[in-house]
Amino acid sequence: MNSLQNWKKGFLWMVCLCFLPLLFLASPLPLKEKDALANHSCRLRKTNFQRFYIRNQTYTLARMARLADNDTDNRFVGQHLYIRIKEKNHCYLMKRVTEIVVENVLSELKNQYPMAEEVANFLGCLHKELSNCKPLGHKVHIESNIEKMKDKMKQLGENGKNKAVGELDLLFDYLENACTEGISTSKRSNQN
Ligand SMILES: *[C@@H]1O[C@H](CO)[C@@H](O)[C@H](O)[C@H]1NC(C)=O
Ligand SMILES: *[C@@H]1O[C@H](CO)[C@@H](O)[C@H](O)[C@H]1NC(C)=O
Ligand SMILES: *[C@@H]1O[C@H](CO)[C@@H](O)[C@H](O)[C@H]1NC(C)=O
Repeated sequence: MNSLQNWKKGFLWMVCLCFLPLLFLASPLPLKEKDALANHSCRLRKTNFQRFYIRNQTYTLARMARLADNDTDNRFVGQHLYIRIKEKNHCYLMKRVTEIVVENVLSELKNQYPMAEEVANFLGCLHKELSNCKPLGHKVHIESNIEKMKDKMKQLGENGKNKAVGELDLLFDYLENACTEGISTSKRSNQN
């Protein structure tokens, strides 16, 4: 059972880390198609979000962190992140938020929460898949919303980091909604 689970875990990372790059390497596409792909690189496969194991780990970790969070006034992940941001840039924005949470939060709380490292690896993997995802048009509002989030996190100190862990389930859902196509598993699916 244990070794099967480990195998599954290993397989998950292998698919995520190896399969996608191979797909690109293995098919020397004509330049135009490469362009088209590059222009649509703010996309993640739906299956990334449909694996029960990692979804459960992420949600469980968030639930654990929320037990230690008594501040209900502040929130990092929410619709306010999208203020003045065009829908086509939502995925890029969530990519940036993911980066902050992985680098500034999860990496520091690895010892505090048992699943933090695994969830960090998963999110890091998605971030890598979005490595070609660039903003379209002006970046000024994106940067300003990101800065506001960072400032608030700094202001809240350790509590802020813990709060960000408590919002990992939201981050998971927002990333899915912003970066995958098709019908969403969450309440909102504003694609057009
Ligand atoms: C992709 O974007 C590049 C500029 O980044 C542009 O030159 C090219 O025409 C675009 N290709 C498609 C298929 O939209
Ligand atoms: C979800 O994960 C937690 C923590 O690893 C585990 O205790 C729980 O049993 C899992 N839930 C299900 C339904 O497998
Ligand atoms: C949250 O709880 C801590 C102690 O665990 C306390 O010091 C702090 O004042 C509380 N914050 C709020 C907003 O209630």
